[in-house]
Parts: sequence; structure tokens; C-alpha cells
Amino acid sequence: MHLKKRVLVTGGAGFLGSHLCERLLDEGNDVICVDNFYTGSKRNIVHLIDNPYFELIRHDITFPLYVEVDEIYNMACPASPIHYQNDPVQTTKVNVHGSINMLGLAKRIKARILQASTSEVYGDPSVHPQPENYLGNVNCIGPRSCYDEGKRCAETLFFDYHRQHRLKIKVARIFNTYGPRMHPNDGRVVSNFIMQALRGEPITIYGDGSQTRSFCYADDLVDGLIRLMNSPDEITGPVNLGNPVEFTILELAELVIKLVNSKSRIIFSSLPQDDPRQRKPDISLAGNILKWEPAIKLEDGLKKTIEYFNGIRTKYV
Ligand SMILES: NC(=O)c1ccc[n+]([C@@H]2O[C@H](COP(=O)([O-])OP(=O)(O)OC[C@H]3O[C@@H](n4cnc5c(N)ncnc54)[C@H](O)[C@@H]3O)[C@@H](O)[C@H]2O)c1
Repeated sequence: MHLKKRVLVTGGAGFLGSHLCERLLDEGNDVICVDNFYTGSKRNIVHLIDNPYFELIRHDITFPLYVEVDEIYNMACPASPIHYQNDPVQTTKVNVHGSINMLGLAKRIKARILQASTSEVYGDPSVHPQPENYLGNVNCIGPRSCYDEGKRCAETLFFDYHRQHRLKIKVARIFNTYGPRMHPNDGRVVSNFIMQALRGEPITIYGDGSQTRSFCYADDLVDGLIRLMNSPDEITGPVNLGNPVEFTILELAELVIKLVNSKSRIIFSSLPQDDPRQRKPDISLAGNILKWEPAIKLEDGLKKTIEYFNGIRTKYV
């Protein structure tokens, strides 16, 4: 018999959080979504509001919260550079104070807790692809540090609560993920290219487009998070979750133009100094311990994402 679990999702009105809430409800759980709508939106969860097993709480997790749940997914944190650099002090706060509040809650109510960490903990890596035991190369005083170091400190807190208070923790290091409900103006390559193609504007590639990236579809990522949460207690992570299949930026632009059937042309601009040549996760650990690997092809995921952006374009953007 499936036992209904009570699950708290912080950042549940965001891109990934909303997909996670949906999937947890589909699996028969009771879901509490907590969000302060900094980058998230009611639009992302409006279809869940009438579900009697879904509750929405407007709350900033840098302040304490008390609810009774069995599991906590800590997803709250702006994820794209333009959003997390907008208020960098708040970005560090949500990672440090927010994590302390959620870990304190998990300790009091004896809940399992999962942290949405990031590939950015590896910084500007000198090892490709990055396995979980690579310690990273992070600048602690740059404009990205609020996010990178904030997430690193959150991981430290998770592991100290685990060692000191025997908390049941799970740490997922998420790599570049895309899909419907991404913020259309978040400045990331997938949303940029799709919006430019839908508007028929030129698609801007920095450099010659031969740099590679890998893209994980949201449903695959959510599947990995749930497998990690459901894994035996001794599996704490950190575990990389992402799609290792690489595409050049030029291939991505051409594919988006084809799928949108757009008249956009590609233009080239000079490469920013910190643009990495390659970003690719090593997911062998997730394969071994979670039996997880992404299943959705870029073309299929892009079609669904394009359909979403096309739907909201006229209404909200
Ligand atoms: N999308 C990716 O490619 C990616 C990659 C690596 C890590 N992650 C991590 O996954 C998580 C979700 O990312 P996303 O892409 O869905 O981003 P998102 O910005 O869409 O979602 C973050 C959510 O957290 C909420 N939030 C922010 N500060 C809050 C606060 N103080 N209190 C309550 N809610 C708050 C926002 O309003 C938003 O709904 C983040 O922690 C992010 O760092 C995402």
C-alpha cells in the first residue's frame, strides 16, 4: 500500500519546484509549497491550487517556518545569474539562513531533507567532466560568489547537520536544466534562443558557437531528485544530476530555429572572458546508486519548451 507522505517544497512556485510539486501530487503525496515569489510565479502552480492535497504558503525561508512534514525539498534560491546577482546579499542569505532554517525544521520534526545544490560549486573547473570528488575552483569575491559560495556553504551546513545531529540528508548537484516554466527573461541560452526565434529576432552566439553545453529536461531532473530522496539513508550525496550529451551552441541555435520554423538568422559576437569551453556532468555515480539517467532527447524537450514559451509570449512577456 502506498503511504501518503507530507512533503514540503521550498521554492515550489519556481521552474523546477513547480514540476516537482506536480510530480509529488501525481504520486499521491500531500504537498506544501512555500515560496516568496522572488523569481517564481503563481502562474506556475495555478493548475494545482484546486487540488485538496496541495497547499501554498507565501513565506521567505530566511525567516523560520514551522510545519509538520515527512520530507523537505529545499529548492528556494534564484538560479540564473541575472536574478541571483540582482540582490546578492539576499542570495547568500537564502542559501545560508534559509538552509539553517530548513535544517533546523528537519531536525525538530525528524524529516528527510534534500538540498538543490548546483554544478556551480565546481566553479571554473579544471577537470572535465566533473565527478563529485572534484573539489572545485571557486572565486570567493566575484559577482557569482553569492551563488557559488552560498551553495557551497549550504552543502557544508547539510553535512554538519548530518554529522552532528544525524539528520537524513540528500545533496543533489544540478547541472543546466531547461523546460516549460523557465523564466523567459532569465538570460540563459535556451530561453534566450527560443524567445529570439519566436520573435524572429537575430540569434546571438558569443564566439564561433563551437563551445559545448549539455541540457537536461526538467522531467528527467525531477525524476532524479525523487529517486535520490527515496534512496537508502546511507546515500547522502553529493550526486551530480544532469544530461551528459553535449551539443555545440551553434547546433542548439540551428535546432531551435528549425523547431520554431523561424526566420531568425544567427549573428556572432565576441566571446565573454569567463565563458567555459565545455560544461558536462559526470553522472556515473547517479547511474550506479540511483539507476538514473536522463531519457528525454533535446529535440523532444525543446518542442515542449517552445510550445510553453509560445503560449505565454503574447500574454506575459
Ligand atoms: N534550473 C537549473 O538549471 C538549476 C541548475 C542548478 C541548480 N538549480 C537549483 O535548483 C533550484 C530551483 O531552481 P529553478 O531553476 O527552479 O529557479 P527558480 O528561480 O525558477 O526557482 C526558485 C524559486 O525559489 C523562490 N525563492 C527564492 N528565494 C526565496 C526565499 N527566500 N524564500 C522562499 N522562496 C524563495 C523563487 O521565488 C522561485 O520560485 C535552485 O535552488 C537552483 O539553485 C537549478
